[in-house]
Amino acid sequence: MREVAVIGIGLTKFGELWERSFRDLVAEAGAKAIIDSGVSGKDIDAMYVGSMSSGRFVGQEHVGALVADASGFSHIHIPSTRVEGACASGGLAIRQGYLSVASGANDVVIIGGIEKMNDVGGGFATDTLATAADQEWEAFFGATFPGLYAMIATRHMHQYKTTKKHLAQVAVKNHYNGARNPHAQYRREITLEQAMNATTVAEPLGLMDCSPVSDGAAAVVLCSLDKAKKFAEKPVKIIGSGQASDTLALHARRDITTLDATVFAGKRAYKQANKKPKDIDFAEVHDCFTIAEICAIEDLGFVKKGEGGFAVEKKITTLDGEIPVNTSGGLKAKGHPVGATGVAQIVEATMQLRGEAEKRQVKDARVGLTHNVGGSGATCVVHILEAI
Ligand code: COA
Repeated sequence: MREVAVIGIGLTKFGELWERSFRDLVAEAGAKAIIDSGVSGKDIDAMYVGSMSSGRFVGQEHVGALVADASGFSHIHIPSTRVEGACASGGLAIRQGYLSVASGANDVVIIGGIEKMNDVGGGFATDTLATAADQEWEAFFGATFPGLYAMIATRHMHQYKTTKKHLAQVAVKNHYNGARNPHAQYRREITLEQAMNATTVAEPLGLMDCSPVSDGAAAVVLCSLDKAKKFAEKPVKIIGSGQASDTLALHARRDITTLDATVFAGKRAYKQANKKPKDIDFAEVHDCFTIAEICAIEDLGFVKKGEGGFAVEKKITTLDGEIPVNTSGGLKAKGHPVGATGVAQIVEATMQLRGEAEKRQVKDARVGLTHNVGGSGATCVVHILEAI
């Protein structure tokens, strides 16, 4: 396997982007990434696109070809492949691009992640997201993702004495970070009281425990490390890439408070990178709901099982804490255009490792981890990146 580096990143603003089309968004992110990387179109060997449900959200399938076309690559007939794994679609697309460069099949690839979720009504968006749950055993009986994660939260609270206040503290932290990210959907801080008193969505989760419905796109250019310096001043190495799967339905898991796909994807990425959780300087984790961040920091080994809520209370995961988590604002405040999320996590990690994260910069950041989950944990992708 060859070593692989991130040489270019691009991101649109996340939010309710009524005036922008699906095509506009992905073209903007792609153009930014290409300009940032220093490559030209003819240098790019292949494209991978993460999108969860463009067919339901904007009525458009066949988005591999559409994104190549919107990016101006149709005339050079670039191979472009869509990758789908629910909310982990972006992370999976990154991994496919990474593997194609590591294997020697390609030298330079571009990966896009895109979702435009606000062009449909809220109910339809919720039903669309629920297609990533088990249709026979979950969605058919009315379970939605807020409902499924509420079950995880209830069990975690019962088993480990995690409180609603712990959940709210995750939201307060991520809104604080999001307020410092110009691309974030919610650039406003919230108080603990606001988080705790917000309207209930699925007990015990309130509005501030949920990621929003978002539009947005992200793009990343990857290159073999030996050629990276030819294009980019500050390439960032991908030193570990792990993926794992689990049962689609939550009830079939051995323990619903542990996402085994996270545990296994994490172990695989740590092993390849030859790193341990204590070597990670910061992490972007999949906080689709506040409880998901608490489970993630446990399952990735940053804290012991059951201590996630207490770790957040002790401010271990704040910007100046021992292991800053979701410096971008996370899915909670930056927004969660599902297919774009995994790619946007790599964008944030790269900014941190290049020292470009401005008001949310982690001091002396050398090694960062990204964690992208599909559904309630049936798919997980973990990447570990290192500054050169
Ligand atoms: N966090 C903070 N504020 C939010 C929010 C969120 N998650 N979602 C909506 N808001 C705000 C809106 O900005 C709006 O504020 P305004 O009145 O000041 O403009 C207000 O709340 C009402 O927004 P609206 O769009 O009507 O909310 P909604 O009730 O339709 O949707 C949720 C709220 C929580 C149901 C929706 O965001 C949701 O479904 N989130 C989960 C998405 C999901 O499941 N993703 C996949 C995860 S696996």
